[in-house]
Amino acid sequence: MEALQTQSGSPLPPVHIAIIMDGNGRWAKSRGLPRTAGHRRGAEAVREAVKSAGELGVSYLTLFGFSSENWKRPQGEVRDLMGLLRIYLRNEIKELHASGVRLCVAGERQRLDPDIIRLIEDAERKTAANTKFTLVLALSYGGRQELVQAARRLAEEVAAGRRDPAEIDEQAFASQLFTAGIPDPDLLIRTSGEKRISNFLLWQSAYAELVFLDVLWPDFSRLDLEAAIQEYQRRERRYGTIG
Ligand code: IPE
Ligand code: IPE
Ligand code: MG
Repeated sequence: MEALQTQSGSPLPPVHIAIIMDGNGRWAKSRGLPRTAGHRRGAEAVREAVKSAGELGVSYLTLFGFSSENWKRPQGEVRDLMGLLRIYLRNEIKELHASGVRLCVAGERQRLDPDIIRLIEDAERKTAANTKFTLVLALSYGGRQELVQAARRLAEEVAAGRRDPAEIDEQAFASQLFTAGIPDPDLLIRTSGEKRISNFLLWQSAYAELVFLDVLWPDFSRLDLEAAIQEYQRRERRYGTIG
């Protein structure tokens, strides 16, 4: 099976890229700086990545910003990360909206501070009708937690007599995930050299192409994104067929 191509023959970019943005702490450590300095630079890399993805023809970008397990980090670090999230949501939404970006948040948002939940709800409402580009922020997100809550919701519907268990199929299941309505990622990138999924998009990345980069997230640039897209375009996706 050949890679999808445009009419001019050049390969198409992935529709949806998901990124595990890892390595902020190591970036800071290697410079003798506190971890929070790495997170600050990481937030700048987020701004650049969103812009570059749109320019490179990608339609959906999902960024893993904070995992369900990251709550177990020291209180001070969690507080710093939440502070940066507040700043991002307060400062970026206007410009994202002006550029036609729809913002969605995937994760156990009830665990976030009430003022952050309000900022998220305002941003989602404000940008809901934008169609050019979708930015999904995975916050307080865990793939297993997401699957468990989907199963619980379906079970509740069955118990209430609203759903026939025989009708629970992949589509019904996917519709209960935080990412309902968003296509599965085509390309999943992890920075920092670690080669693991760390509980990210377990259901959704069933057939994603995986690209692991050695670059630490604060150093991630448009060139790295381009390189990952080129690597993706060299892959042959077979989905279990013989091509
Ligand atoms: C990624 O960088 C940011 C979050 C997980 C919130 P890390 O903070 O995990 O940085 P390393 O992996 O310790 O270098
Ligand atoms: C995954 O990175 C979560 C985010 C990037 C937000 P971690 O640094 O938390 O993952 P592990 O601990 O190395 O698996
Ligand atoms: Mg890490």
